[in-house]
Amino acid sequence: MRLSVIGCGYLGAVHAAAMASIGHEVVGIDLDPRKIDALSRGEAPFFEPGLPEILTEGVESGRLSFTTDIAAAEGAAVHFVGVGTPQQQDGHAADMSHVNAAFESLLPHVRPGDIVAGKSTVPVGTAAVLAPLVEAVGATLAWNPEFLREGWAVQDTIDPDRLVAGVPATADGERAAAVLREVYHPAVAKGTPFMITDYATAELVKVAANAFLATKISFINAMAEIAEVTGADVTQLADAIGHDVRIGRRFLGAGIGFGGGCLPKDIRAFAARAEELGRGESVNFLREVDAINLRRRDRAVQLVIDALGGRVFGKKVAVLGAAFKPFSDDVRDSPALDVAVRLNGLGANVVVTDPQAIDNARRLHPQLTYEPSRDESIRDADAVVMVTEWDEYRRDLTPEHASSLTAGRVVVDGRNGFDAAAWRAAGWSYFGMGRP
Ligand code: UDX
Repeated sequence: MRLSVIGCGYLGAVHAAAMASIGHEVVGIDLDPRKIDALSRGEAPFFEPGLPEILTEGVESGRLSFTTDIAAAEGAAVHFVGVGTPQQQDGHAADMSHVNAAFESLLPHVRPGDIVAGKSTVPVGTAAVLAPLVEAVGATLAWNPEFLREGWAVQDTIDPDRLVAGVPATADGERAAAVLREVYHPAVAKGTPFMITDYATAELVKVAANAFLATKISFINAMAEIAEVTGADVTQLADAIGHDVRIGRRFLGAGIGFGGGCLPKDIRAFAARAEELGRGESVNFLREVDAINLRRRDRAVQLVIDALGGRVFGKKVAVLGAAFKPFSDDVRDSPALDVAVRLNGLGANVVVTDPQAIDNARRLHPQLTYEPSRDESIRDADAVVMVTEWDEYRRDLTPEHASSLTAGRVVVDGRNGFDAAAWRAAGWSYFGMGRP
């Protein structure tokens, strides 16, 4: 099938390349010429495992192309809209300007019978407003949320755990659903659940999933706060409750909390939308989820201060990690980077390292010192602070090796990723999150 993808960020670029890799002819469209130049050469404009391979393959096969010209969408049977919905500058609601601009520029190039499939995460009620504009050109709007995780985006797109399409309850809606089944044929053929819903449900599925995940993380981080005043160990607590299949161990990783381009802004936008709908109280707990999450960053900073005897001023602090999570170079709302910035603000001599995210981090916070080499970053450090659990740190950095480089023997484990007993046995003062 011929497909267009409007917006070539973390979502759109992966979607375009993944759709080409399953055999479709795809044009990716974005306003940013630098992004388009890179993608056209088969280069990923950001770090995402597996993406360079399918980009190169797609571009070389001739099935995948990129352009800044929206007119190139003409002739596609399905137009996916995957532009960003960041948090508004002056509030918690989603900034819809990119979505609105994308629809406005796309619609003159949409032909009767085409499907426009919204993938952006939007406030519930958005599709109902956009649908008449799409219908006015004889096309049909479907809302087809995306659940990809950064770091696993290629796999999540080609082989998702579920597909959801919100369509109108009309013959056109039915046809739109059938066309989307065809688009996702390999996943559909292997029996991936494909749910057809109305617009509101499809929009809500996405925000509800993210709200649930954020709540799960903040739940365990709240338990970490209780563990901290009782001497309990939150990692053992998580293991024990996680054995209950109704609870499950995943997303019970206590630490400095969630960040990134989705969870933080999505729960805020959800709360703001619920407020507009007169149901603010229904998701009031999301404000608490947000507050718990942000408190963990304060806690990590305080742990470093305490660990260094009450003052970080002039101390060399090596911060391992800047990305909001491993396998990503994304530093949007990164708790790791936030901790580094705060320690720097307190006068510590902070050196940040990360295998992928240094360029992005430096653009946002040029005041910090960055060191690409893990070992150089910890050389002569008074404290080692691990805030993104890359394998290079969590798995590969042994206390013995660290001891050969650092000045001090203080380790603060912001992700509870290190083996506390091993570090202590090697003579280190180990401080975890919610652990004695
Ligand atoms: C998330 C959703 O998982 C995905 O389905 C949606 O499409 C987009 O938002 P992503 O932002 O890529 O994906 O990251 P995710 O893996 O969910 O992690 C989010 C944050 O939570 C990270 O900062 C991570 O470090 C943190 N986290 C995750 C924890 O603090 N503890 C955990 O146990 C799990």
